[in-house]
Amino acid sequence: IIEDVRYRIVFDSRGNETVECEIEAGEVIGRAIAPSGASTGSEEAIVADPYKIDEIEEKISKGIVGMSVFDQFSVDEALREIDGTENFSSIGGNFAISASLATAKAAAEILGVPLYAYVGGLVNEIPYPLGNVIGGGAHAEDSTNIQEFLVIPVGASDFFEAQRTNAMIHKAIKQEFKKRGIFAAKGDEGAWAAQISDEQAFEILEAAIAKVEDEMDVEVRIGLDVAATELWNGERYVYKDKKLSTEEQITYIAELIDKHNLLYVEDPLHENDFEGFAELTKQVKCMVCGDDIFVTNPRRIKKGIEIGAANTVLIKPNQVGTLSDTIKAVKLSKDNGYEIVVSHRSGETEDETIAHLSVAFNATLIKTGVVGGERLAKLNELVRIEEYMDSPTMVKIRRLSG
Ligand code: PGA
Ligand code: ZN
Repeated sequence: IIEDVRYRIVFDSRGNETVECEIEAGEVIGRAIAPSGASTGSEEAIVADPYKIDEIEEKISKGIVGMSVFDQFSVDEALREIDGTENFSSIGGNFAISASLATAKAAAEILGVPLYAYVGGLVNEIPYPLGNVIGGGAHAEDSTNIQEFLVIPVGASDFFEAQRTNAMIHKAIKQEFKKRGIFAAKGDEGAWAAQISDEQAFEILEAAIAKVEDEMDVEVRIGLDVAATELWNGERYVYKDKKLSTEEQITYIAELIDKHNLLYVEDPLHENDFEGFAELTKQVKCMVCGDDIFVTNPRRIKKGIEIGAANTVLIKPNQVGTLSDTIKAVKLSKDNGYEIVVSHRSGETEDETIAHLSVAFNATLIKTGVVGGERLAKLNELVRIEEYMDSPTMVKIRRLSG
């Protein structure tokens, strides 16, 4: 039984205030922190001002104290009722998701099982890490147009080897920048940012991958998060050196997929271009993933499925505001043959919850960076989970690469 709901303001990796929720039930306390995005989708749950904490804490407490932590769906329903809007514009998706996840964590703790087992049941698989190694867009000024250049160590035989490979590529890229006399800094997610073109980023990335593949004898594939909503001006996709129409953008992305043998492309078109997504998905043999277009929202995912937009769904619990709706989004996606990728936000904290959710949901990939404490909180938790689990399997990537 939920006896107390407490919030406090804590800080995220950008130094911004965010909210942490504590759910007290019996002897245990479940605790979760809301992350936050920089390139947010327009239909995401609204982020409420953390300093409205007293007022919102009171509302939420009134609504959920006395409920059972094992009744996740009712707790989440109550959060929706307290809010009364479609997109949590009253109590904020940040206040909602932290309460929702803290409730599940309290329940798992009472049962004495890890969160991934509580949410996922008996069949759990470890995802492959989708690591952001070079980045720009809304995450770093004066860097690449494409927001994220990602790596997927498809040949790794377990999570530890996979993360080790990604970490080595991150380091090898630094050496490649050094060799070329290019100054590189780190963006919001720890990916390298520099004054380079997208073509140069590919060149540097491919040089680093070749080195690490050689050293580790592990096949690595490339992915992108174009975050195209950020490039779209209402008429064209605006790059530093070109402006592309929708048709040209589709052709450009299809060419990149072909030229660089991409395994994964996220948000290749802007958030409302369902038709463009469907057109590209038809043309290419690649994971085409929707982030801003779906915002983890079952209603938008359903619309996408109906017209064949994308074949992969990015899952960010804070985009939709509750664990129940996140589970609905996952189920809807998987029932229709879509892959899922559980993801962090660019503004993160030491909260490790999404590592457990990625295992519980049998996600194909987890996108949670490569370096930095707030990213390692998830990656190291997956190292632990892999060790706890008797026979963790990573069959899914073999399916993708083979
Ligand atoms: P965000 O971006 O967390 O800054 O919104 C991450 C992404 O676009 O995947
Ligand atoms: Zn994205």
